[in-house]
Amino acid sequence: MKELNQDTILALLSDIKDPDLHLSLQEVNAIHSVIINDAAITIYLELIPPIHWIAKDIEQAIKHKIAEYFPGIEINIFVKDKEIPRISNQHILPTVKHLIAVSSGKGGVGKSTIAANLAAALAQRGASVGLLDADIYGPSIPTMFGVTGHQMEAEKTEDGKLLGYPVVQYGVKIASIGFVMEQNQAAIMRGPMLAGYFTTLMDQIMWGDLDFLIFDLPPGTGDIQLTLTQRVPLSGAVIVTTPQEISLADVRRSISMFKKVQVDILGVIENMSYFVPEDMPEKKYHIFGEGGGEKVSKESDVPFLGQVPLTLGTRSGGDDGYPVVLNPDDFIQGDILRSITSSIVSALRIKNHSALQKPLIQITL
Ligand SMILES: Nc1ncnc2c1ncn2[C@@H]1O[C@H](COP(=O)(O)OP(=O)(O)O)[C@@H](O)[C@H]1O
Ligand SMILES: [Mg+2]
Repeated sequence: MKELNQDTILALLSDIKDPDLHLSLQEVNAIHSVIINDAAITIYLELIPPIHWIAKDIEQAIKHKIAEYFPGIEINIFVKDKEIPRISNQHILPTVKHLIAVSSGKGGVGKSTIAANLAAALAQRGASVGLLDADIYGPSIPTMFGVTGHQMEAEKTEDGKLLGYPVVQYGVKIASIGFVMEQNQAAIMRGPMLAGYFTTLMDQIMWGDLDFLIFDLPPGTGDIQLTLTQRVPLSGAVIVTTPQEISLADVRRSISMFKKVQVDILGVIENMSYFVPEDMPEKKYHIFGEGGGEKVSKESDVPFLGQVPLTLGTRSGGDDGYPVVLNPDDFIQGDILRSITSSIVSALRIKNHSALQKPLIQITL
């Protein structure tokens, strides 16, 4: 029988590991304090953010471990995010913790579908999420969330600045370049004008506190993409491709663009990897070839996040304004998309952990 005191509890906690970092809670300095009285143990944790995919598991593991030795005791666990210093562009989107760009070399590969489902999956897990549709060539997020034709609420500040409020759907705050720009306008627009629209989206939309802001970028690697990726403090980028050799050349260009602007690539997602018929879910038809995504991620030394099949439910979910990951009847795609989302969250946590390890160097001139 162990004696109930702080040392005993700390020793028990030393067996619990952070699942992404593979280090114990002590090693990642996660235990802020442990308070014990006769009736209860209260533990305050500070974990590397984003914590939505792991906090519950860690809490469960702790409760389980303590209950082995002190059955029946009340255990309260409070979890908060560790502060991660933000180095670049402090003043842009200061209330947003993690900005993730979803990018692709070319259109039609499922970039918006992935962005929509990623945002919905994160919100489903309890995160506060925004989704910014910056695809000037084909803003499709309003369709995918069933909010086409919705207007952003706006107000004017005393000094005459116009502020817009994102449209909220399924717990996701949505703003689209499509809300502020006429259709077909993109083709005739030049860089500086577009830059103006993006500045509006960055400065004048009241996102509020967000754990994640997902950007659906315009496809390609031209000036617009370069400007956008340089202007905002991106936490990382996710690149979407199909398995076809023909789309891989574009992916390589995307990867080198992000490397050039020093944005971390969280990984490559291969979409439309194979077709799964709903009446024969055990079948896989490799319509667009095989293995392209994994190949390109290996040769560029970026993580491979997984394969997303082509399914009828995904297409109809997109068209009907209800992302497939939210559909409780879809067993094929939902689990795959949630697991890819969890891999993206892990990649961010690993990145944030290493940012905390590096001393911040202050240069005074
Ligand atoms: N995994 C998938 N299964 C079925 N349909 C898909 C899948 N991914 C994308 N689609 C469909 O393909 C079309 C193009 O996808 P979209 O996400 O709009 O591509 P992008 O944003 O790259 O142009 C859409 O109609 C979408 O519903
Ligand atoms: Mg799109």
